Amino acid sequence: MTTRDGHGRAAGHEDVVRALSAVVGTANVLTDPATVTGYTTDWTGRYRSDVAVVVRPAGTDEVAQVLRLCHAADVPVTAQGGNTGLVGGGIPAPGAVLLSTRRLLGAPIVDAVGQTIEAAAGVTVAEADRAAREHGLRMGVDLASRESATLGGIVATNAGGIRMIRHGNTRRQLLGVEAVVADGRVLRRWQPLVKDNVGYDLPGLLCGSEGTLAVVTAVLMRLVGPAPPAQVVLAAVDRVDAAVEFCRRAARHGLTVEAAELMTAAGVGLVAGRTASALPAGGKAPFSILVEVSGGTTDDVVEILGAADDLVVDAVVDEAPGRRLWQIREGHTEAIARSSATPVVKLDVAVPLGTMGPVVDAITAGIAECAPGARCVQFGHFLDGNIHVNVLDVPPDLAGPVTETVFTLVARYRGSISAEHGIGRAKLPWLSLGREPVDIEVMRSIKHALDPRGILNPGVLFPAP
Ligand code: MLT
Ligand code: ZN
Repeated sequence: MTTRDGHGRAAGHEDVVRALSAVVGTANVLTDPATVTGYTTDWTGRYRSDVAVVVRPAGTDEVAQVLRLCHAADVPVTAQGGNTGLVGGGIPAPGAVLLSTRRLLGAPIVDAVGQTIEAAAGVTVAEADRAAREHGLRMGVDLASRESATLGGIVATNAGGIRMIRHGNTRRQLLGVEAVVADGRVLRRWQPLVKDNVGYDLPGLLCGSEGTLAVVTAVLMRLVGPAPPAQVVLAAVDRVDAAVEFCRRAARHGLTVEAAELMTAAGVGLVAGRTASALPAGGKAPFSILVEVSGGTTDDVVEILGAADDLVVDAVVDEAPGRRLWQIREGHTEAIARSSATPVVKLDVAVPLGTMGPVVDAITAGIAECAPGARCVQFGHFLDGNIHVNVLDVPPDLAGPVTETVFTLVARYRGSISAEHGIGRAKLPWLSLGREPVDIEVMRSIKHALDPRGILNPGVLFPAP
């Protein structure tokens, strides 16, 4: 057993700091408590660590050396990208070294013919997208935290985001990966091919592994074509199934649905309150949807809306990119976080599409019963069944029961307890609601094969040994 002092520092801590400094330079080993807090508290403020060492390697070789020496000294390592994760997956266990990937940088390389991008793990999604756009292409993954979220982070968490229904999740974009395994060996799968069936899909396995199998240092991803002309519709609807039916009708009309987001009056009200802006549509309808469609004109969209009296209460249409309308959706995370007296309980679930309406209602009712003073704001990427459940003003002792209520309900509807944010630390006690025993055993065998000493991100995905 490793002995630790009151700051979670293991015996031999000074030796580890000295050895890490020899690899990355003293300036890139942070130990000052005031400096490390920026890394050791997550975006939600719910997860904190008193970890004493942050190491900032500048290249794959330095990451390999850091892991080699931590492996030899039995020191756990938690990798962190932009620290925009919402389940505590980048916040280390006591005594661990936090390995920040933000100095893994360099200009991305775009192959305009093959439609691929190669980039270091610390490059942000927005930077990669800007590089792609110089060649008339785009990243297939897009999310509200694009300016901070790193490519290494979206691969480690298999991020979904707002273009998931159109282009698929991060795993679908990933063609190759460079990653350092626990003992410091560098694994590189780097063929810029969409067809390559040689053995196991290791990039696919590392994608979504939440830093428990390897530290991602570079990625090779496919790009998608330029954004087509599109229209953004913000519509008020009375029922969730009306939102789904509206998208079906748009598709039958020959349009392509590029994005489909659901919001509630409560969430839209919070965003409008923070920006002091009037709502462009909706008034008192219980739900608002934001749907972006391509393949037609504003007249087509107006025609579909005109024939949708049975579905839509009120609507506005704007030409893409429609930033003013998108900001209402993208402002949710920030507005919710700032409106709660306690760290928000953020749950990220998926349910079969046909059950979404009843599940949204049942979640609201279940939370009202379990935590009567709490407020529930749901929103999400509705065409992929994803609901982001946010519970505000939850007394600390009720965070667990609220989570249990939502997850039990979701499991009853054959849903997933993690649609896109991962398990992290947040959902650890409920893993068995998401996977069967043999499935968990197989995942543990894979973890053990790649990281027999269990130094990579202990306490995330599986309980710390
Ligand atoms: C989103 O869809 O905006 C993100 O998943 C963030 C969140 O759930 O707050
Ligand atoms: Zn999301």
